Amino acid sequence: MSESTLTSPATVSSFEVRPSSSPRTVTERAAVLADLRFGTAFTDHMARAVWTVDEGWHDRRVEAYGPLQMDPAAAVLHYAQEVFEGLKAYAHPDGSVWSFRPEANAARFARSAERLALPVLPEQDFLDSLRTLVHTDVEWVPTTPGSSLYLRPFMFASEAFLGVRAANRVDYLVIASPVGPYFAKGLKPVAIWVSRDYKRAAPGGTGAAKCGGNYAASLRPQAEAAAKGFDQILFTDASDTYVEELGGMNVVVVGKDGVASTPRLSGSILEGVTRSSILTLLTERGLEVRERDIPVAELIDGVRSGEVAEVFACGTAAVVSPIGRLAGEGFDLEVGGGEAGPVTEWVHRTLTDIQYGRAEDSHGWLTRLV
Ligand code: COI
Repeated sequence: MSESTLTSPATVSSFEVRPSSSPRTVTERAAVLADLRFGTAFTDHMARAVWTVDEGWHDRRVEAYGPLQMDPAAAVLHYAQEVFEGLKAYAHPDGSVWSFRPEANAARFARSAERLALPVLPEQDFLDSLRTLVHTDVEWVPTTPGSSLYLRPFMFASEAFLGVRAANRVDYLVIASPVGPYFAKGLKPVAIWVSRDYKRAAPGGTGAAKCGGNYAASLRPQAEAAAKGFDQILFTDASDTYVEELGGMNVVVVGKDGVASTPRLSGSILEGVTRSSILTLLTERGLEVRERDIPVAELIDGVRSGEVAEVFACGTAAVVSPIGRLAGEGFDLEVGGGEAGPVTEWVHRTLTDIQYGRAEDSHGWLTRLV
C-alpha cells in the first residue's frame, strides 16, 4: 500500500454528526445483514448538504436516515435536474474499511453536475461526506464474501419553482446500503437483449452524465426485455450502428485473438470507473485493449462465428458479470459456451482481490474510510 493512499480516518470532516435517536438494534441489523440483496436496505444515517445561490455549499451534516420533506414544486420533480454516483465501501480482513477510486467518482459527479447545470460539489466535501457517513455507520459494513456497503451520493434541484431554468437551491445527500450481488444469479452468466427500438443517448445529449433521466429512459426497454426472460439490455448508438452500453453498466468484448474491445468514450456512454480500471488490468495482463466503435453487426457475427470468445458487463454495482446469451430481433446466440470465460473470471478475481484487500493495491486505487 503506498503511503499517499492512506487517508487517515481521523482527518477532520466538514460534516457534523448528529446521531440518530432511534438506530436499529444489534439484532435488527444482524437480520438485515444476514439477507443481503441489492439496494433494498439502508443504514441508520445519511449525509446531507445544501447549496443556494446566495450561500454556496453549507449545512453539511450526517443525520438520521429518513424521508425527505419536499415542496411539490421542487424543480427535480418536474424537470429531472438530478445527478448521482455509485461506489462501494469494502471491509478488509484487518477490520479497516476502504473505498475504490472515490476521487474518480467525485470528478465524474462534478462533470455530471456541470452537464445538468447543477453546482459542483468540491472533491473534499464529496470525500468527507463518504468518510463521515461510513465512520458513523461502520457497523453496517457487511463482511460476508462478495458483500459491501454501496454508497449512493446524489444531488437534486430542490427549489420550489416551475420556470425552466437551473435551480437556485440544490440538496446533496449520500445514503448507504449493505449489498450482495447486483444480479440475483451472482457470477452466473446473464442473458442480454440487444434493444434497437429505444435509445438511451444521442450526440450532444446527457449520455455521459450519471443522471436519473438516462436510467428512466432505460426502464421501458428493460421491462420489455425482462418479460422475454432477459436480465439486461444492450443499447446501440443513436444511428443504430454501434454498441454503446447496458442499462446500467459498460460492456467489454474479448476476441479469441486476445484483443479486448470496449466502446470508446464517445460522449454518449458512461465513463465507468470500473471500466477504466479493468482496461488497465487487462493491458497489464498483456491483452491488447482497443477503445473503439464496435459495430453491432460485428459483435453478432463474432459471437456466431466464435471469433468473440467472451463478453462481460462491468460497473460498480455489477462488478464483472459474464454475458452468456446475446439475443435480439432475428438472432439468439450463446456466448462462450454460456459459461464465464477465463479472462472474465481473471478480471473479476483480480479487481475484487484489490478491492477487498486480498492483493496489493499497486495502483494506489484504495482510499481508507475507517
Ligand atoms: C453503479 O454501478 O453503481 C450504478 O450506478 C448503476 C446502477 C444501475 C446500479
